This record gives sequence, structure tokens and C-alpha cells, in this order.
Amino acid sequence: MLTYLSRILYVVTGKKIELLIMAFVFFAVSLLDTVGIGLIGPFMGLATSPNTVVQNNFLNSFYTQLGFTSPYQFIAFIGFLIVLIFCLKSFLNFQMQAYVFRFSFSQWGKLVERLIQAYLAADYTFHLQRNTSAILQTILVETGHFANAVLIPILISTSNVAVLSFLLILLAWTSPVCTAAVLGTILITYFISNSFKGKMSLWNQESNIAQKQIIQVVNHSMGGIKESKVIGCESYFEDQISGLAKTYATSMSSSLVFGNLPRILIEVFLITFLIGFTSLFLISGQNPQRLIPVLSIFAVASIRMLPAASALLGAVTTVRSYSYVVDKLYFDLKEVEDKQYGANLGASKFGIDGSKKGWQESQQAMVFSDQVVLQEVSYSYPNSASLATQNISLMVKKGEAIALIGKSGAGKTTLVDIILGLLCPQSGDIKVDGISIYDDLRQWQNLIGYIPQSIFLMDDTIERNIAFGVPDDQINSQRLQKAIAAAQISQLMAELPEGIKTQVGERGVRLSGGQRQRIGIARALYHEREILVLDEATAALDNETEQLVNDAIKSLSGQKTLIIIAHRLSTVEHCDRIYLMKQGRIDKEGSYAEVVLGESPVT
Ligand SMILES: Nc1ncnc2c1ncn2[C@@H]1O[C@H](COP(=O)(O)OP(=O)(O)OP(=O)(O)O)[C@@H](O)[C@H]1O
Ligand SMILES: [Mg+2]
Repeated sequence: MLTYLSRILYVVTGKKIELLIMAFVFFAVSLLDTVGIGLIGPFMGLATSPNTVVQNNFLNSFYTQLGFTSPYQFIAFIGFLIVLIFCLKSFLNFQMQAYVFRFSFSQWGKLVERLIQAYLAADYTFHLQRNTSAILQTILVETGHFANAVLIPILISTSNVAVLSFLLILLAWTSPVCTAAVLGTILITYFISNSFKGKMSLWNQESNIAQKQIIQVVNHSMGGIKESKVIGCESYFEDQISGLAKTYATSMSSSLVFGNLPRILIEVFLITFLIGFTSLFLISGQNPQRLIPVLSIFAVASIRMLPAASALLGAVTTVRSYSYVVDKLYFDLKEVEDKQYGANLGASKFGIDGSKKGWQESQQAMVFSDQVVLQEVSYSYPNSASLATQNISLMVKKGEAIALIGKSGAGKTTLVDIILGLLCPQSGDIKVDGISIYDDLRQWQNLIGYIPQSIFLMDDTIERNIAFGVPDDQINSQRLQKAIAAAQISQLMAELPEGIKTQVGERGVRLSGGQRQRIGIARALYHEREILVLDEATAALDNETEQLVNDAIKSLSGQKTLIIIAHRLSTVEHCDRIYLMKQGRIDKEGSYAEVVLGESPVT
């Protein structure tokens, strides 16, 4: 229980003191609630025997001091006071509920923000093992459950606990028998609904998994829409969705049905008791007149207690059955925030006063005036027994171009990912002018422009895709034009009716493969980084365009430092040094003539 609470508090962002203040206000409002209800019994008593006003010394002193001339006026005045108390209580209650909802949903917003920060900051290897559907599910669905099914029920429950406690004390004072009956009802209901807690949790988890899989199937079917249509396998995905939808519907409805159980049980028990108590009282020959104040306070207390008790028990069941959501969020946040993925990303970054670095502030690059050296770099992927790269040592001088060649699976992309700082080698180091890049990975990465094997395009304009990650008002149009020209897409821009403002569609579907690749090249050039890393950057282009792009890249020789992976060996002819990779090792290094011409053709 305490572990559960501490996990909730970890997931809640911001001032925990707000929760304490809220609990205090709930307490005060509940007290007012009890006072109002407590006054109804005596009021009914007075209404049925008005003479008590003058017979009771305490009431009589008020009656005369306030100058009333008839007991009825006095009773009406007390009634007015009760109405006032109820109005005030209801107003405060409304405010409080509004506060709870605002607080919980602002927590939801902060949680979404914190999660996206955490996932973005997470190590690349974290993402190699995660599925985007699962991340989508956590950010969209599980955060909603945290606000709706954990935070709100807990906060509302504090008020229900206070109301119940006060009313039980009041009831105990008026009628111990009633108190015992109400307490008994609550306890029996608690034990019955508690026996369903395991099942409820299971149903919720089942529906959650089904929902995640639905997102995944939609992703697969829409992502591969071309293949689905050509192969004609639409029904394969439809059947998957229909099975998952059934699972979701069954588990979700079961969970909701049993979530209502406490309310139904309490109602049955209390009504049975109320009728039973009255009948026994009358059968035992007691004066029915004496029943009125007790029954009226009991009835009002039940009206207030019944919803409070059923809401409380319902909340306990719901909050417990969603414990897996709290665990999931807690472990995800903890896993990412605790690890130091780069020294600059501490958990403190995610606090509400955390200093999120602005785009411009994070642009500072490492000093690079001489050379980059890889020393004995070895890396193996998580859960993989073999080394994907083994004791790799190489060197690039500023302004040089080097090439990595080798068969498919030789480890070229892995090595490039290590150089990019995405994968952290288990041994070895990378040094720039003698300083390890791991001292400040961000500053090292600010030196690099990267063109991957397949370019990711946002469903946005060409302009925003080239200046990837730069706010609109900071896009430099001169640099943009320069990058467009160098990537050989000036003509394409001129032909498109909307030019650089053209929307490219999801993952760039409205462009050809070669056009997409050239936008990727323009993106790397726009950022004007010192070192350009190209992983098969021109493989998707036709011979003529490839030649043009290669010429553009070649023209950067001397100005930029280039690390090129290429399939077509003609692409690397101009490189200063060529490294031939084989099974994760450097098999041969030297000039084009030494490595390529002295060796049987590679690929
Ligand atoms: N995420 C991963 N987890 C485990 N093993 C991986 C992962 N990514 C790549 N590998 C393995 O590492 C080895 C090197 O792969 P890499 O992608 O570096 O090859 P490559 O030389 O770039 O090949 P290609 O020319 O086909 O792009 C391969 O055996 C591959 O199966
Ligand atoms: Mg590769």
C-alpha cells in the first residue's frame, strides 16, 4: 500500500503540498456537511413539537434574546440557517470538485509532457527494444487512466472518508444501533467487492493489452497499405482487429459492471435495515413519535452516506485494479530518468522547474580542429551474444573523406550509429582533438549532419522537413536555398505549385523515393554541421541524380569532414581512405586503389 502511494507520488509532478492543502479543505467542507445534516434531526423534532422551543432552556434563551414572538418563526429561522449552511457547503463542494478535476487533468498534461521528454531523452537502445504502439498507448491511454481512475478517485475519496467518519460519529451519538448497521453494511460490501479485486485488475489489464494491440494492428495495416492491397490480405488485419475488439469489449464491460457492485450492495443492505429497524420498533410497541428524529437523521445521513460509502468503495476497487498503470508509468519514468543517458539528462530536468534547454541554447558544438579518432571500439547489441563491431580503430582528419565499405551485415551502420553517439560502445573510446565525445555527447552530436539509409519525413511541408526541428520563425531562408541547391532539388521546388510549402504526406508518400532521399540530404546540409555522415545516402537515386548529388557531396570535400557508407564503389573513389569491414572488424584499410582495386569486388 505504501509502495503504491509512493509510486503515485513519484508519477505526480509538481508541488505535493497542494495535495495536503486539498486534503485539509476536504476535511473542512465535510465538517460543514456534517453540521448541516446534524441540524436536520433537531429541526424535524422541533417542527413536530414546537413547544420544545420554550420548554428547552438552551433554545429558550436564544428564542428570547433574538426577539422572536412565535416558536414557528424561530423554527423557520433555524431552517433558514440550515439552508445557508447547505448552500455554503454545496458551493465549497462544487469549487473543490472543480479544483480536483483541474488538478488531475493538469497532472495528466504534465505527465504526457514528462513522458515524451523521457522517451525522447532515452537511449537509442531503449527504442530498439520498444514498440511505438506501446509508447503511444502509454502516452495517450495510460496517462488518461492515471488521471481518471487513480488520481481523481483518490482525491474525491479523501472527502468521502471525511464525510463518512463525521457522519458515523454523528450517527453513533444519535443511534448506536443505526451506526452498527451502517458500519456492518460498509464492511460486508467491502469484503464482497474486495473478492473481485484480482478479477477487476485482470480485466483492466486485458482491455489495456487489447487496446495496445489494436493500435499496433492499425499501424501495421496502414503502414503497409500498399503491400496489403497488392497481396489482398485486408481480411487478415480485419480478423485481428475483430478478435481484439471482442476481448476489449468483454473485459471492459465486466470491469465496469463489477465496479458498480458496491453501490448496489450498499443500497440493498441499507434499505433492508431501514425497513427492518422501523418495523421492529413499531412491533415492540414503542412510541412512533420517538422514531421521527432518529429516522430523519438516519434517512438524510443515508442519502449522504450512501453515495459517499459506495463512491469510496468503488474508488478503492478502481484504484487497486489500475495499480498496473501506476507501476507501468513509474517504471518507465524511473528507467529513463534515473539512467544518465548523457550526463546532462538528470531526473531534475523533469521537475516542473526543470530547465528545458531552448533550441538555440543546445546548439553549441565541440571544438574540432584536428582529428576524430576511434580507439578499439567494440559493441554488442542488447541480448546479443556476438559483437556487432569489434576493436575498431580508425581516424579522420578534419576536411578528409573516409568510406566504410563491406558486405551487408558487416557492421557499417552499427559503427556509424556508434559514431553518431546513438549506441554506446562497451569498450573503447572516440576522441575529438584528444577529448572523449562521452564528456559531452550533445556537443559532439552538434558537429554532425546525418543522412540515414532511409529518410524519415514528417507529414508536413518540405521546408519544415528540411529545417527539421527548427521553429518556423528561426528558419534561415538563405541556408534553406543553399541546402536545396546542393541536394539537387531546386528544379523540383520550382515545379511544385506550392514550392517548399508543399505537404509531403505521411512519411513522404507524395514524393518519389529519390526525392525523399534528397530532402534528407538537404536536411543534413541545412544544419551546416562540420562532419557529414552518409549511410547509403545516394542508394535510392537514379544514376544521373546520384551523379549530381555525389558531385555536390564531393564539392564539400575539403570544407566538410565526410564519413561515407556506400554500396556502389564508384561513390567512394574520391575518398582519402577506405575501410573495408568484415564481420564487425576492419579487414583492410588504405586508398581506393589499395583496398578496392587490390581486392575482389565487394557487396
Ligand atoms: N537492433 C539490433 N539488435 C541486434 N542485432 C542487430 C541490430 N541491428 C543490427 N544487428 C546486427 O548487427 C550486424 C551488423 O548490422 P549492420 O546494420 O551494422 O550491418 P550493415 O553493414 O550496415 O549492413 P547493410 O549493408 O545491409 O546495411 C548484423 O548481423 C545485424 O543482424
Ligand atoms: Mg546498413
